Amino acid sequence: MSDSTKSGPAEVTLAAGDKNVVLPVQYPTLGAPCIDVARLPKETGCFTYDPGFTATASCKSAITYIDGDQGVLLYRGYPIEQLAEQSSFLEVAYLLMNGELPDRNEFAKFEHEVTHHTMMHERLKNFFQGFQYDAHPMAMLAATVASLSAFYHDTLDLEDPEQRRLAAIRLLAKMPTLAAAAYRYSIGWPIRFPRNNLDYVNRFLHMMFEVPSEPLEMNPVVAKALDLLFILHADHEQNASTSTVRLVGSTGANPYASVAAGITALWGPAHGGANEAVLKMLAEIGTPDKVDAAVARAKDKNDSFRLMGFGHRVYKNFDPRAKIIREMTHKVLGELGIDDPLLEVAMKLEEAALKDDYFVQRKLYPNVDFYSGIIYKALKIPTEMFTVMFAIGRTAGWVAHWLEQQVDPENKIGRPRQIYTGAATRDYVAIDRR
Ligand code: SDX
Repeated sequence: MSDSTKSGPAEVTLAAGDKNVVLPVQYPTLGAPCIDVARLPKETGCFTYDPGFTATASCKSAITYIDGDQGVLLYRGYPIEQLAEQSSFLEVAYLLMNGELPDRNEFAKFEHEVTHHTMMHERLKNFFQGFQYDAHPMAMLAATVASLSAFYHDTLDLEDPEQRRLAAIRLLAKMPTLAAAAYRYSIGWPIRFPRNNLDYVNRFLHMMFEVPSEPLEMNPVVAKALDLLFILHADHEQNASTSTVRLVGSTGANPYASVAAGITALWGPAHGGANEAVLKMLAEIGTPDKVDAAVARAKDKNDSFRLMGFGHRVYKNFDPRAKIIREMTHKVLGELGIDDPLLEVAMKLEEAALKDDYFVQRKLYPNVDFYSGIIYKALKIPTEMFTVMFAIGRTAGWVAHWLEQQVDPENKIGRPRQIYTGAATRDYVAIDRR
């Protein structure tokens, strides 16, 4: 990791026609310096063009840092490997939201507060009744999270730091409750109340799998695996869904609407929907002997087929989360005594792709979504719930970024420009003269 605070020029000069435009350079704690182009339109009459924001910093943030070349991921400076090994999801959520690891008292207070905001309003339960049983749980989650703003008018004054904080706590606390309710509704089981005597992950598992007719036997292997998956999915800089939360938040929209927008952005198969797509892809490939044909299709420009779970906008090395999940997959399936043939297909696919020039040249490595679906399947999470699981973990990052944005002095409404390619000015023609 390069500490670029001290190195490099304080400004760059752009030769724009007969003018030289001097632009300031901003330096991060870690990572690449950024040329501040805010003055460009005024000085040159030009905008910058960067579809997908591949080379554009949209904000300053102190929450997460990724070094894509080195495969490094830091949450508030702590390496993801150390947090995965030593922390818990709820402690990581505190860290992301507050900037520092909590001491025992701080954590106890935080955990108590989250635990006592897990219930949903009884009227909100009725919202699920409006859905068909085969509604995708992401549709139910996005809708019910957006509707939280209709129930919690005491957290809509964004000028009040306590209301902002409480809204963040409520989102973190209620996401598992709403997620489990969506699943229970889809299988025709009664929605369960959150149990306060359980910790964050076991409480979620209980709401998901407990049946009225018999007590649920909690499995520590399952709980530990899920806690780790939530940690790994908690935050990831300005990914599409977090950028969406920030863009909606920049208009002054309430936090529930902002996070609901993030949920819908996460749903796409190019983003959080990839874990569901990976499992469908592995099942479609079926057996290890069909892997080479799949790799060939992924390379064929005339075929829209892509290796889901491979590639990343930022990581041009192994996604450190994928490494951790890959090791965890073998451990969890071993401890649960599960022999999943899809794991063999996944390992063969990974081996074939990592040796193939097409993937090597494009630096396409397995990402966080490649193995996570196999673990979720082992934990008896249904495929349609995989992206919902991603949303539960990422809620910690979404609310942390939303809180950070609300106090950012440089925060302004997001409003990109465009390159207009339409018709030049022309006069209206009456219909009988067209
Ligand atoms: C997540 O941003 C984040 O941080 C996201 C995330 C998070 O934690 O929030 O990490 C979570 O979304 C992980 C990514 C999950 N998505 C997938 O696994 C879907 C499959 N991956 C691709 O769709 C793709 O790799 C993206 C969307 C992830 C990244 O796309 P980019 O950076 O825009 O890269 P690209 O589409 O321009 O691809 C570059 C080249 C192209 O080939 P050429 O035009 O150079 O010939 O690589 C090829 C692409 O065709 N390519 C793939 C491929 N991914 C890219 N070819 C086959 N299979 C793939 N998976």
